[in-house]
Amino acid sequence: MRKRIIAGNWKMNTTLDEAKKLASEIVELVKNVDDVEIVICPPYTNLYVVYEIIKDSNVKLGAQDLHWEDKGAFTGKISADMLLSVGVKYVIIGHSEQRTYFCETDETVNKKVKQALKKGLKPIVCVGETLEQRENGETKEVVKKQVVGAFEGVSKEDILKSVIAYEPVWAIGTGKTATPEQAQEVHAFIRELLKELYDEEVAQSVRIQYGGSMKPNNAKALLEQPDIDGGLIGGASLKAKDFYGIIRPE
Ligand code: 13P
Repeated sequence: MRKRIIAGNWKMNTTLDEAKKLASEIVELVKNVDDVEIVICPPYTNLYVVYEIIKDSNVKLGAQDLHWEDKGAFTGKISADMLLSVGVKYVIIGHSEQRTYFCETDETVNKKVKQALKKGLKPIVCVGETLEQRENGETKEVVKKQVVGAFEGVSKEDILKSVIAYEPVWAIGTGKTATPEQAQEVHAFIRELLKELYDEEVAQSVRIQYGGSMKPNNAKALLEQPDIDGGLIGGASLKAKDFYGIIRPE
Protein backbone atom coordinates (compact mmCIF):
# COMPACT_ATOMS: atom_id res chain seq x y z
CA MET A 1 0.00 0.00 0.00
CA ARG A 2 1.39 3.39 -0.99
CA LYS A 3 0.51 6.20 1.40
CA ARG A 4 -0.84 9.22 -0.43
CA ILE A 5 1.50 12.22 -0.37
CA ILE A 6 0.31 15.78 -0.93
CA ALA A 7 3.05 18.40 -1.09
CA GLY A 8 2.75 22.16 -1.42
CA ASN A 9 5.40 23.88 -3.50
CA TRP A 10 5.17 27.52 -2.45
CA LYS A 11 7.68 28.53 -5.15
CA MET A 12 8.88 32.16 -4.80
CA ASN A 13 5.96 33.22 -2.64
CA THR A 14 5.50 34.23 1.01
CA THR A 15 7.29 36.78 3.14
CA LEU A 16 8.13 35.76 6.69
CA ASP A 17 4.76 36.86 8.07
CA GLU A 18 2.81 35.30 5.22
CA ALA A 19 4.65 32.01 5.66
CA LYS A 20 3.94 31.92 9.41
CA LYS A 21 0.25 32.56 8.83
CA LEU A 22 -0.09 30.00 6.05
CA ALA A 23 1.82 27.30 7.94
CA SER A 24 -0.24 27.88 11.10
CA GLU A 25 -3.50 27.67 9.16
CA ILE A 26 -2.44 24.44 7.46
CA VAL A 27 -1.34 22.81 10.74
CA GLU A 28 -4.73 23.59 12.25
CA LEU A 29 -6.76 22.32 9.28
CA VAL A 30 -4.90 19.02 8.86
CA LYS A 31 -4.40 18.09 12.50
CA ASN A 32 -6.67 15.04 12.28
CA VAL A 33 -5.36 13.71 8.98
CA ASP A 34 -3.29 10.57 9.41
CA ASP A 35 -3.84 8.71 6.17
CA VAL A 36 -2.09 11.26 3.95
CA GLU A 37 1.52 12.39 4.21
CA ILE A 38 1.57 16.19 4.08
CA VAL A 39 4.63 18.20 3.07
CA ILE A 40 5.06 21.96 2.63
CA CYS A 41 7.98 23.48 0.74
CA PRO A 42 8.42 27.16 1.56
CA PRO A 43 11.23 29.29 0.14
CA TYR A 44 14.59 28.97 1.93
CA THR A 45 14.21 32.16 3.96
CA ASN A 46 11.08 30.78 5.63
CA LEU A 47 12.15 27.20 6.26
CA TYR A 48 13.21 27.62 9.84
CA VAL A 49 10.29 29.71 10.97
CA VAL A 50 7.91 27.24 9.33
CA TYR A 51 9.76 24.34 10.97
CA GLU A 52 9.14 25.92 14.38
CA ILE A 53 5.42 26.01 13.59
CA ILE A 54 5.06 22.48 12.20
CA LYS A 55 7.62 20.54 14.24
CA ASP A 56 5.08 18.90 16.58
CA SER A 57 2.45 18.40 13.89
CA ASN A 58 1.74 15.88 11.12
CA VAL A 59 3.11 18.31 8.51
CA LYS A 60 6.63 17.74 7.17
CA LEU A 61 9.05 20.26 5.79
CA GLY A 62 10.42 20.23 2.26
CA ALA A 63 12.78 22.51 0.33
CA GLN A 64 12.58 23.51 -3.32
CA ASP A 65 16.14 22.66 -4.37
CA LEU A 66 19.65 21.96 -3.05
CA HIS A 67 23.21 21.98 -4.34
CA TRP A 68 25.05 18.72 -4.93
CA GLU A 69 28.30 19.75 -3.22
CA ASP A 70 28.73 19.51 0.54
CA LYS A 71 29.87 23.12 1.04
CA GLY A 72 32.16 25.80 -0.32
CA ALA A 73 32.35 28.64 -2.82
CA PHE A 74 28.94 28.32 -4.47
CA THR A 75 27.41 31.75 -3.96
CA GLY A 76 23.65 31.67 -3.72
CA LYS A 77 23.38 27.92 -3.22
CA ILE A 78 22.09 25.84 -0.32
CA SER A 79 23.53 22.51 0.86
CA ALA A 80 21.91 19.35 2.14
CA ASP A 81 23.40 19.87 5.61
CA MET A 82 21.91 23.37 5.77
CA LEU A 83 18.50 21.97 4.92
CA LEU A 84 18.82 19.15 7.45
CA SER A 85 19.83 21.65 10.14
CA VAL A 86 16.48 23.46 9.82
CA GLY A 87 14.31 20.35 9.89
CA VAL A 88 13.89 19.62 6.19
CA LYS A 89 12.93 16.04 5.25
CA TYR A 90 12.02 16.29 1.55
CA VAL A 91 13.56 18.22 -1.32
CA ILE A 92 12.08 18.98 -4.72
CA ILE A 93 14.61 18.31 -7.48
CA GLY A 94 14.41 19.00 -11.22
CA HIS A 95 11.31 21.15 -11.20
CA SER A 96 10.47 22.28 -14.74
CA GLU A 97 10.99 25.91 -13.69
CA GLN A 98 14.54 24.98 -12.68
CA ARG A 99 15.00 23.12 -15.96
CA THR A 100 13.57 25.99 -18.03
CA TYR A 101 15.03 29.07 -16.32
CA PHE A 102 18.07 27.89 -14.37
CA CYS A 103 19.93 25.42 -16.58
CA GLU A 104 18.87 22.27 -14.71
CA THR A 105 19.71 19.17 -16.74
CA ASP A 106 19.22 15.45 -16.21
CA GLU A 107 22.86 15.39 -15.15
CA THR A 108 22.49 18.05 -12.43
CA VAL A 109 19.25 16.41 -11.32
CA ASN A 110 21.12 13.13 -10.92
CA LYS A 111 23.88 14.75 -8.86
CA LYS A 112 21.32 16.45 -6.61
CA VAL A 113 19.30 13.23 -6.19
CA LYS A 114 22.43 11.33 -5.14
CA GLN A 115 23.50 14.06 -2.74
CA ALA A 116 20.05 14.28 -1.16
CA LEU A 117 19.90 10.51 -0.66
CA LYS A 118 23.45 10.32 0.66
CA LYS A 119 22.57 12.93 3.28
CA GLY A 120 19.22 11.45 4.27
CA LEU A 121 16.85 13.82 2.47
CA LYS A 122 14.02 12.35 0.42
CA PRO A 123 13.97 13.65 -3.14
CA ILE A 124 10.78 14.58 -4.96
CA VAL A 125 11.99 14.28 -8.54
CA CYS A 126 9.99 16.22 -11.14
CA VAL A 127 9.57 15.05 -14.71
CA GLY A 128 7.22 16.10 -17.49
CA GLU A 129 6.90 17.08 -21.13
CA THR A 130 6.25 20.46 -22.73
CA LEU A 131 3.20 21.11 -24.87
CA GLU A 132 5.28 20.87 -28.02
CA GLN A 133 6.70 17.52 -26.95
CA ARG A 134 3.21 16.21 -26.17
CA GLU A 135 1.88 17.39 -29.52
CA ASN A 136 4.80 15.70 -31.26
CA GLY A 137 3.97 12.42 -29.52
CA GLU A 138 7.20 12.52 -27.50
CA THR A 139 5.74 12.43 -23.98
CA LYS A 140 6.88 8.93 -23.02
CA GLU A 141 10.30 9.32 -24.59
CA VAL A 142 10.90 12.59 -22.70
CA VAL A 143 9.65 11.25 -19.39
CA LYS A 144 11.71 8.08 -19.79
CA LYS A 145 14.88 10.07 -20.45
CA GLN A 146 14.25 12.23 -17.37
CA VAL A 147 13.51 9.28 -15.07
CA VAL A 148 16.47 7.24 -16.31
CA GLY A 149 18.74 10.28 -16.04
CA ALA A 150 17.58 11.25 -12.56
CA PHE A 151 18.12 7.81 -11.05
CA GLU A 152 21.22 6.68 -12.91
CA GLY A 153 23.46 4.91 -10.40
CA VAL A 154 20.84 5.11 -7.61
CA SER A 155 20.45 1.86 -5.68
CA LYS A 156 17.18 0.05 -5.11
CA GLU A 157 17.35 0.89 -1.42
CA ASP A 158 17.65 4.57 -2.27
CA ILE A 159 15.00 4.82 -4.95
CA LEU A 160 12.56 3.32 -2.45
CA LYS A 161 13.02 6.53 -0.41
CA SER A 162 12.28 8.74 -3.41
CA VAL A 163 9.10 10.24 -4.80
CA ILE A 164 8.50 11.05 -8.47
CA ALA A 165 6.28 13.95 -9.51
CA TYR A 166 4.83 13.87 -13.01
CA GLU A 167 4.24 17.50 -13.90
CA PRO A 168 3.34 18.13 -17.53
CA VAL A 169 4.88 21.56 -18.18
CA TRP A 170 1.82 22.71 -20.13
CA ALA A 171 -0.37 22.16 -17.06
CA ILE A 172 1.75 24.12 -14.57
CA GLY A 173 0.20 27.40 -13.52
CA THR A 174 -1.94 27.46 -16.65
CA GLY A 175 -5.25 26.24 -15.27
CA LYS A 176 -5.05 23.41 -17.86
CA THR A 177 -4.99 20.15 -15.95
CA ALA A 178 -4.12 16.86 -17.56
CA THR A 179 -7.27 14.76 -17.65
CA PRO A 180 -7.23 11.92 -15.13
CA GLU A 181 -6.80 9.52 -18.07
CA GLN A 182 -3.87 11.45 -19.56
CA ALA A 183 -2.15 11.59 -16.18
CA GLN A 184 -2.87 7.94 -15.37
CA GLU A 185 -1.38 6.82 -18.69
CA VAL A 186 1.95 8.51 -17.92
CA HIS A 187 1.95 7.38 -14.27
CA ALA A 188 1.41 3.77 -15.36
CA PHE A 189 4.20 4.20 -17.90
CA ILE A 190 6.58 5.46 -15.19
CA ARG A 191 5.68 2.50 -12.99
CA GLU A 192 6.36 0.13 -15.85
CA LEU A 193 9.69 1.85 -16.40
CA LEU A 194 10.61 1.43 -12.71
CA LYS A 195 9.94 -2.28 -13.11
CA GLU A 196 12.29 -2.43 -16.08
CA LEU A 197 14.99 -0.39 -14.33
CA TYR A 198 14.64 -2.04 -10.91
CA ASP A 199 11.97 -4.61 -10.14
CA GLU A 200 8.33 -5.17 -9.26
CA GLU A 201 8.80 -4.14 -5.63
CA VAL A 202 10.20 -0.75 -6.64
CA ALA A 203 7.46 -0.29 -9.24
CA GLN A 204 4.76 -1.01 -6.66
CA SER A 205 6.34 0.99 -3.82
CA VAL A 206 7.58 4.28 -5.26
CA ARG A 207 4.97 7.00 -5.00
CA ILE A 208 4.19 9.04 -8.10
CA GLN A 209 2.54 12.42 -7.61
CA TYR A 210 0.71 14.43 -10.24
CA GLY A 211 1.37 18.17 -10.47
CA GLY A 212 -0.09 20.88 -12.68
CA SER A 213 -3.11 23.01 -11.83
CA MET A 214 -4.38 20.52 -9.26
CA LYS A 215 -7.22 22.17 -7.33
CA PRO A 216 -9.89 21.06 -4.84
CA ASN A 217 -12.39 20.64 -7.69
CA ASN A 218 -10.27 18.33 -9.86
CA ALA A 219 -8.19 16.54 -7.22
CA LYS A 220 -10.62 13.73 -6.51
CA ALA A 221 -10.78 12.41 -10.07
CA LEU A 222 -7.00 12.57 -10.42
CA LEU A 223 -6.32 10.94 -7.06
CA GLU A 224 -8.77 8.12 -7.78
CA GLN A 225 -6.55 6.88 -10.60
CA PRO A 226 -4.74 3.68 -9.60
CA ASP A 227 -1.23 4.97 -10.25
CA ILE A 228 -1.62 8.53 -8.94
CA ASP A 229 -0.38 8.57 -5.35
CA GLY A 230 -0.69 12.23 -4.52
CA GLY A 231 -0.10 15.72 -5.75
CA LEU A 232 2.57 18.39 -5.96
CA ILE A 233 0.61 21.58 -5.66
CA GLY A 234 1.68 25.08 -6.64
CA GLY A 235 -0.93 27.86 -6.68
CA ALA A 236 -3.54 26.03 -4.62
CA SER A 237 -1.02 25.34 -1.84
CA LEU A 238 -0.84 29.06 -1.05
CA LYS A 239 -4.34 29.05 0.39
CA ALA A 240 -4.73 26.78 3.40
CA LYS A 241 -8.36 25.96 2.55
CA ASP A 242 -7.57 25.00 -1.03
CA PHE A 243 -4.60 22.90 0.07
CA TYR A 244 -6.81 21.14 2.59
CA GLY A 245 -9.45 20.73 -0.12
CA ILE A 246 -6.93 18.65 -2.09
CA ILE A 247 -5.94 16.61 0.96
CA ARG A 248 -9.61 15.89 1.58
CA PRO A 249 -11.20 16.29 -1.87
CA GLU A 250 -14.96 16.14 -2.22
P1 13P B 1 0.42 24.77 -10.13
O1 13P B 1 -0.34 23.91 -9.16
O2 13P B 1 0.39 26.22 -9.78
O3 13P B 1 0.02 24.49 -11.55
O4 13P B 1 1.96 24.34 -10.01
C1 13P B 1 2.29 23.00 -10.07
C2 13P B 1 3.72 22.87 -9.73
O5 13P B 1 4.60 23.30 -10.46
C3 13P B 1 4.08 22.25 -8.45
O6 13P B 1 5.43 22.00 -8.35
